[in-house]
Parts: sequence; C-alpha cells; structure tokens
Amino acid sequence: MLKVLNVVGARPNFMKVAPIVEAMKRREGEFMPLLLHTGQHYDEGMSDAFFRDLGLPAPDVYLGVGSGSHAAQTAAVMQSFEPVVLSERPDWVVVVGDVNSTLACALVCSKLGVRVAHVEAGLRSRDRTMPEEINRLLTDQLADLLLTPSEDADANLLAEGIPRERIRFVGNVMIDSLFSQLERAKLSTVREELQVEDKDYATLTLHRPSNVDERDAFSRILDALEQIAERLPIIFPVHPRTRARIKEFNFTERIERLKNLRLVDPLGYLDFLRLYSGARLVLTDSGGIQEETTALSIPCLTLRENTERPITIELGTNQIVGTNTAKITEAAFNALDSPRETKKKRVPPLWDGHTAPRILEALLEGMRDSEGMRDEG
Ligand code: UD1
Repeated sequence: MLKVLNVVGARPNFMKVAPIVEAMKRREGEFMPLLLHTGQHYDEGMSDAFFRDLGLPAPDVYLGVGSGSHAAQTAAVMQSFEPVVLSERPDWVVVVGDVNSTLACALVCSKLGVRVAHVEAGLRSRDRTMPEEINRLLTDQLADLLLTPSEDADANLLAEGIPRERIRFVGNVMIDSLFSQLERAKLSTVREELQVEDKDYATLTLHRPSNVDERDAFSRILDALEQIAERLPIIFPVHPRTRARIKEFNFTERIERLKNLRLVDPLGYLDFLRLYSGARLVLTDSGGIQEETTALSIPCLTLRENTERPITIELGTNQIVGTNTAKITEAAFNALDSPRETKKKRVPPLWDGHTAPRILEALLEGMRDSEGMRDEG
C-alpha cells in the first residue's frame, strides 16, 4: 500500500489534484491518499468553492499559511510542512504546478529524503522574472519523478540534464477535471445571471504580477479592452491581486466608464467553465486557461510575451499577443472577424481525460524501481 501525501496550495492546484485523489480512492487496496492544503489561497472564492465543485474531500491537513512576500510565504509553508512529513512518513509526496507551495514542499521532501513527484514537470517560459519559472526550475531539479503534460516538457528536462528514467510523459491532468466536469458545468446559471448569450461575449482573466503590478502594462491592456468592449461584452472575474491594483492605480473610474467591461468576483470551477466554454474569445494571462481553451477549441489570446505551454500554440487555439495595445486589439478583431465555426483544432496527445491513472501507475513503478535499487545496493 502506497501512502501518498497530495499537496494543494493555490487555485490552479485544485483541479490538478482532484482527479489524482479520486483515482487513488478508487484503488483503496493499493493507495492511501492524504490531502494537504497549505492555505496559500484561503478565500471562499479562491479555495472552498473549488473543493465543492471538484468534489475534493476536506483536507486531512490544513497549514493555513496565507499570503506574504515570496520569502515569507515559501518559508512559512516549509516550516509548517516539515513536521507533517516527519510524522506521516509518506511513500510519495505529490506536488503539482508551479506555485510557491509547490517548491516549498518539494524542498522539504528532498531534504528529508522523502520521494517527491512533480505533476506538470518540465514546462519552461524561459523568463526568469516570472516567479513561477523559478518554482518550476527548482522543483524539477529536486523531484524524484517528473510527470510531464507534453513532450516539449520532456525535451526541456533532458536538456537540463535530468535523467531519462525519472521522466514520464503522462499527459495533462487538468484536462481530466475539465472533461469530467463538462456536463455538470452545464447546470451552472452563470450566463443567465450575467445575461450574456452563447458566443456573444469575451471572457478575461488577469493576475500576473508583470501585467497587474506594473501600472503601464495594466494601462496598455485597459486601452485595448476599451476598444474590444465596443464590439462585445467582456466578463472579467477579478483576482484579489488585480482588485487591489485597480484601487491602488486609481483605475476604478476608468473601468466603470466601460459599460461593456463587467467586473465580477472570482468564479468557482463550474461557473467559470460554463462561462469560458461559451465565450466567443478568451483573453488571459493564466497558464491553465491557455490549456483549457485548447482542449475545447476556443480562441484564446494570451496577454504575455511568452508561454511555458507552446503546444497550445502549435496544436491548439492559443496566440501570444503580449501587452501592446495595437497588437491585442488587432488579434482580437481578427478573431472576432473570422468565421465562428473554424475547423476544430487538434487536442495535444494524452490530453484525453485519463492522465490520473497514468500518474498512479508511474508512482507504483517509481516505487518498485527505487526498492529494486535498494535491494541491489
Ligand atoms: C498565485 C501563484 C500563481 C498562480 C495564482 C493563481 C505563486 C508565486 N503564484 O499567485 O502562479 O497563477 O496564484 O491565482 O505561487 N489573496 C486573497 N485571497 C486569497 C489569496 C490571495 O485576497 O485567497 C490576495 C492577497 O492579498 C495576496 C495576493 O492576493 O497577497 C496574491 O496572492 P499570492 O498567493 O501571493 O499570489 P497570486 O497572485 O494569487
């Protein structure tokens, strides 16, 4: 029986861990899953709503670290996570994605000699000003098992000198959640509440520090939104970081003048899925949304200069447009002017809704391999 401690911390972690925990619960005799929430995200709309929507069980352990500077937050997770690992002594710790909790927990495990598996390993934006890029690079150096969502990630890891035998291409586990929740999301009444018609609105998300903590970049994006909002309503669920910057930069009045740019509180998983899946166009700086729109063939404009998910551009519906006003509006108008029912784009290999079972197999195999090595030694 494998005892596995699954770690979640921030909003983009929940939909990656839910299918893994569920698959482990289905294989009771082989897996004993524990769920640990660091508390990096803690608001009802950023955390609890996702537990409910995704059917995640209440965490077995809640660390309650909350917000803070990068150093303070990472250190707080490490300090409170270490005693849990020492008392639970799991066979595996599973960390996902690239948030501060991911790196903090991986670092604790590697120092304690506890096996750690990284789900969504190998993605690289090659932009080290992004906090997530640092988290990705370091977590991958520490992990014993690197579970990749796409083959470009395998290539990145090999180029960084990670041994082939530690890498497993398993596919994209977010898409397991997406496919399994599509039907339930149809019950959401979010579009009716917002009074938007299918394929007649855009959805926007914005929370990267490089966009919202920089007044000029944020302002350039608002300039573009002013023009796009003349064509169709834009629904904008606002991340708490972004909400704070809007106030700080005195953008409130400017935004209020744009009647077609509609700010709403952060949405839960099902409401948000219902919203973006019916959008004519998605504008975002999120990593996960680039993937989800690709899986559903919805046009996506990424308001960043780079992406760690190039496959969403090669095969999917994603386009990098940066934060230049003219570039954003041009790309948006092109998308709006092109025929609605364009040919369905290709969904990347192994984004098939069955990644979680492959992750479980890799954990079992990884355990057998390391026990084999111990016996030989
Ligand atoms: C974090 C992740 C980012 C991810 C994003 C998704 C890191 C370095 N960043 O960024 O990769 O894309 O989550 O949302 O781990 N806050 C609340 N309520 C909450 C959580 C945060 O009000 O539940 C506010 C706090 O003021 C906090 C700020 O949002 O200071 C930023 O939160 P933080 O977790 O530091 O980073 P995110 O921007 O959310």
